[in-house]
Amino acid sequence: MTATVIDGKAFAAKVRGQVATHVARIKADHGITPGLAVVLVGEDPASQVYVRSKGKLTVEVGMNSYEHKLDAETSQADLLALIAQLNADPDVHGILVQLPLPKHLNEDLVINAIDPAKDVDGFHISNVGLLGTGQKSMVPCTPLGCLMMLRTHHGSLSGMEAVVIGRSNIVGKPMAQLLLGDSCTVTVAHSRTRDLADIVRRADIVVAAVGRPQMVSGDWIKPGATVIDVGINRIDKPDGGTRLVGDVDYDSCAQVAGAITPVPGGVGPMTIACLLANTLTACCRSAGLDEPQGLTV
Ligand code: GUN
Repeated sequence: MTATVIDGKAFAAKVRGQVATHVARIKADHGITPGLAVVLVGEDPASQVYVRSKGKLTVEVGMNSYEHKLDAETSQADLLALIAQLNADPDVHGILVQLPLPKHLNEDLVINAIDPAKDVDGFHISNVGLLGTGQKSMVPCTPLGCLMMLRTHHGSLSGMEAVVIGRSNIVGKPMAQLLLGDSCTVTVAHSRTRDLADIVRRADIVVAAVGRPQMVSGDWIKPGATVIDVGINRIDKPDGGTRLVGDVDYDSCAQVAGAITPVPGGVGPMTIACLLANTLTACCRSAGLDEPQGLTV
């Protein structure tokens, strides 16, 4: 079998198009422009690339983008003061503090200072609790993107066996909650899991989010299973230079799986598309408008 390739790039472009249509409508009908504030502390090169890309796509869908670049020495008090200012600003509907933060800053404290209604990352403890209890929340962007692709590919996920590899707060745990919410039987595996290959072999859906390059090999995959690769790892090429790979060994898995997301061009583009969808959702909720259909759970 050769797997169907789930084209995350095309999927993300479609989601951004839906967001843009909805943004144009609420601008025209209600005079409201959704606004996303992104806070970057320090000069981490990868974070700078992400933030630039977020800003560009935010403007492209017709939203306002507010970038706050703070130097690496910024104090906790100054960062909290900026968040308080953004919480109070009616033009800001979504707030994202780019992670990781410099070591002297307390990430939990900073994230939990964001107004949960503006927490478009879905990392605030209130949103984590709401998601865990099946209530309306802001849903973390990467797992939301994975769920959208899975729902589109399969229709109903009810009764499917899902194995999530990785237990991070950003991906693994919320992914498991979302799959459970769609009535999958969910196993969360991680670096200490025994007999990982045997556990993955029973899955109809595999979501790999461990941060280990090409760890999941084709002989772990049940024939016909859907493989979602969240990993982004840079590895050396044998003939010099580097290339991006996922947590899945693409070539061997694509021979066995029914469907698979590539790296790059799979989950990655969906993360920013879902951030924009979440900003739109936050804006609609704050203004008491109907939420966009299909762009949140
Ligand atoms: N750093 C890497 N991924 C993310 C993300 O999804 N949100 C934030 N805030 N920081 C990140």
